[in-house]
Amino acid sequence: MKKVQLLLFIIAFCSQASFAQKETTVLTIKNAADAPTINKNIYGHFAEHLGRCIYGGFFVGDTSKIPNTAGVRNDIIKALKELKIPNLRWPGGCFADTYHWKDGIGPKEQRPTIVNQWWGGVTEDNSFGTHDFLNMCELLGAEPYLSGNVGSGTVQELADWVQYTNFGGKSPMSDLRKKNGRTEPWKVKFWGIGNEAWGCGGNMTADYYVGEYRKYATFMSDWQNTGGLTRIASGSNSADYNWTETLMKDIPLNMLGGVGVHHYAVIDWNKKGDGTDFSEDGYFNTMKSALKMEELVTKHSAIMDKYDPEKKVAMIVDEWGAWYEVEKGTNPGFLYQQNTMRDAVLAGATLNIFNNHAERVRMANLAQCVNVLQAVILTDKAKMITTPTYSVMKMYSVHQDAKLLPVSFQTPLYTFNGETLPAISASASKDKSGAVHISMVNVDAKKTNKIEIDVKDLGVKNFTGTILTSPKLQDYNSFENPNKIIPTVFKGFENKKGKLEITIPPFSVVVLEGI
Ligand code: AHR
Repeated sequence: MKKVQLLLFIIAFCSQASFAQKETTVLTIKNAADAPTINKNIYGHFAEHLGRCIYGGFFVGDTSKIPNTAGVRNDIIKALKELKIPNLRWPGGCFADTYHWKDGIGPKEQRPTIVNQWWGGVTEDNSFGTHDFLNMCELLGAEPYLSGNVGSGTVQELADWVQYTNFGGKSPMSDLRKKNGRTEPWKVKFWGIGNEAWGCGGNMTADYYVGEYRKYATFMSDWQNTGGLTRIASGSNSADYNWTETLMKDIPLNMLGGVGVHHYAVIDWNKKGDGTDFSEDGYFNTMKSALKMEELVTKHSAIMDKYDPEKKVAMIVDEWGAWYEVEKGTNPGFLYQQNTMRDAVLAGATLNIFNNHAERVRMANLAQCVNVLQAVILTDKAKMITTPTYSVMKMYSVHQDAKLLPVSFQTPLYTFNGETLPAISASASKDKSGAVHISMVNVDAKKTNKIEIDVKDLGVKNFTGTILTSPKLQDYNSFENPNKIIPTVFKGFENKKGKLEITIPPFSVVVLEGI
């Protein structure tokens, strides 16, 4: 390169670099009186009979040396209570459409076995059943969300399950419940009518499923004691908008409490990549798939708006999260993966999307709670650790049942290999005490970003902050080093007379609190 050219290049490069450093995103937060409340159920979880989620995860049995309450690990109960877990979906997933609930009640030694045909072909002894799950939900203070078996069950079987769990008077099923040791009904509100009916739930067409749904929903009485069952239709596979359209068009709205949507962040279903051993390419492509959630929620909402402009029917994203290859040396059918800063960024950005769509998205369930996919808790025999995703869910729990404060901003771009993604993700809310919370994620793997927020009209003055970050994207909590990534005090902001100036490091999640 000639000398002059080289000089011009250096000048251009330097001015670009200094411009980039000065670049600030101005984020506006509106104190809108008509904004919706962020339903706490957006922060829900999912526990399937899959790998070591239930057996060897939640449930160790009451003869275990691991401290437990009726067979459920005390350390898990404590961790999930601290997370303010609002609801838990069970028993599947694909497993739900093979599960016959009557096999999981009564004396444990008399229960038949079941072969888990979807997940590893293992034989289960049904020792964790309806009572175990619903009593555990009571301990957790979480609403149960039961997935009914439509694929291989019967209408009578599901109607009986509702009667067994919810009927307070005298009936065949409530008598059976009492015989099994439980007098008062649990009053389960949330009921899924099948799971992934387009796939493992029966490979149905949308039209066929609508017929099944209407039949099952008809016979599920709420026994006048739950304030109305929320009956949830098995939703679309990611961007299958025709599925949502058919459901909304052909199911009477008074039979439909919620419509599901499932979307996993996956690089490529044939080459999912490793959970911890990945490059920036793996990170970018996982985030690209995860951030598609914004488009999915927007487009499914638009279809729902057409048939339900009053937004009576909830969108329920009852399976979401990252899906990688299983950890080396583990059973391929058990879907065990580690959880890094990549997963924390993914969780923070996804939860911001749900918060910002709180008008329609009223429940979501991260897949899955313990030892499976993007778990918040991992166990190894007596040891238990929480993951970076757990920390994000905990930091964001301040948004539960708080009023949304709509945000607007023009995001800078995160560029990799000629492609771009939004670099900043954010949402905000005001809770019942008047405290304001602003959650922000810097998705960019390399670049620090600056954000400016005028908070003068929000009715709060003093701000504190928490950050989740780590030197490397690939960092994770291990059983040897369980606290490698934990939330710490965030000092990267200044409050200049009601204007917050925030500097947010690459791949980090920040929550500010204003009181
Ligand atoms: O979460 C794992 C599986 O993913 C669920 O069983 C199924 O519903 C989905 O395909």
